[in-house]
Amino acid sequence: MSNRRSFIGKIGLASAAAVAGNIFQPAWSRNLKSALNNVAGVTPADLATDDEFWYYVQQSYTISSNFINLNNGGVSPAPKVVADAMKRYYDISNEAPSYFMWRVVDQGREPLRKNLAQLAGCDAEEIAMQRNASEALETVIFGLDLKAGDEVVLTKQDYPNMIAAWKQREKREGIKLVWINLELPSEDENYLVKQYTDAFTPKTKLVQITHMINWIGQKLPVKKIADAAKKKNIEVLVDGAHTFAQFEFKIPELNCDYFGTSLHKWLGAPIGTGFLYVRKEKIKNVWPMFGAPDKQEENIRKFEHLGTRPFYIEQATDKAIDFFDMIGAKRKEERLLYLKNYWMERVQNIPKVKIKTSFKKEFGCAIGLVSVDGKKPAELDSYLFTNYKVHTVGIEWENISGVRITPNVYTSTKNLDRLVEGIEKFVKG
Ligand SMILES: Cc1ncc(COP(=O)(O)O)c(C=O)c1O
Repeated sequence: MSNRRSFIGKIGLASAAAVAGNIFQPAWSRNLKSALNNVAGVTPADLATDDEFWYYVQQSYTISSNFINLNNGGVSPAPKVVADAMKRYYDISNEAPSYFMWRVVDQGREPLRKNLAQLAGCDAEEIAMQRNASEALETVIFGLDLKAGDEVVLTKQDYPNMIAAWKQREKREGIKLVWINLELPSEDENYLVKQYTDAFTPKTKLVQITHMINWIGQKLPVKKIADAAKKKNIEVLVDGAHTFAQFEFKIPELNCDYFGTSLHKWLGAPIGTGFLYVRKEKIKNVWPMFGAPDKQEENIRKFEHLGTRPFYIEQATDKAIDFFDMIGAKRKEERLLYLKNYWMERVQNIPKVKIKTSFKKEFGCAIGLVSVDGKKPAELDSYLFTNYKVHTVGIEWENISGVRITPNVYTSTKNLDRLVEGIEKFVKG
């Protein structure tokens, strides 16, 4: 562990100077700015261990310190700046909705598209705003021309909404679903890639790959699977609900055709935000979920014809991008990995405790799964909440069973110490 205090030793002085400079900036924001200035030369890996720096990040949220939320994998709170912007945009819209919503607030849509594209490393003409990952991914699932007998490869560990959508196409149109059953966790890339490639046949039209399996926090080698699929002219749909803004990557690096994500999980955007990426030359092949004019056939905006909706939610996404950029993608990734490994290291040797997620950065990041021999996940989940006010989620899905723990950038190691104590006491009985 590095020397925690050394990185931000000058924060008091910097705050005082900032107070004189700008009395209107809230204290948490001045302090965070000073903390960021003072760690400019520190590597992300070293900074990951610096609780005092991350304390200033925590102050940018309105989270309660009595109730410890370790289910950020479900959905995450937005930082104050994001929540404030959303409320402000709502108030403005509400003054005269048709004018302010369409002529003022929604004018931010094209700049937002550009900012998201920059973060994703793609062209703005490949990004459509959506309300969540389900909407983005189901737009592709229902929008592709597939006929009876065409095969789609997917896993039993994929997300239920996507599975239900594919099953609907199977029932209605007779497409064939080819199921993979992954044994997880795995640190064997060859095993993971082979499960997919073994399922490919001359009839395979598309493979769906969940970039990070939500139940267990397993990262999959998407690019290697996608490269193998491309050699056989198989299209690639990536479920990135858990990866965009959790760790650093650019969408084109994955070699996929379609990528859908929520932004209310890891980007910290307001609840009800997401986007769909479609490789430019593929746009014309996907029917939009809501009808669009013919002239938009090759235009990514054809996926945005939802009608009147809360633009103030979407627009506050920009503030989440600013906040994310301010912390830095690599710093966030290293901190999340550190927090997950922090609690997993402390419970891994407790008798009967089983850790079910990899410690390695290639195979995991923020999410970890833990189980206790002879106990159901729901028992541990309920014990932690009742006795420690630690909120987690019990998982029983296919061959995966355990309690999922998901910290976020505002989680402290002190919070995780409470989790560790809870697991220790639970095992002792
Ligand atoms: C892997 C995965 N895909 C898709 C989704 C759906 O996300 P949303 O509910 O934001 O549409 C989730 C949500 O937890 C998920 O974990």
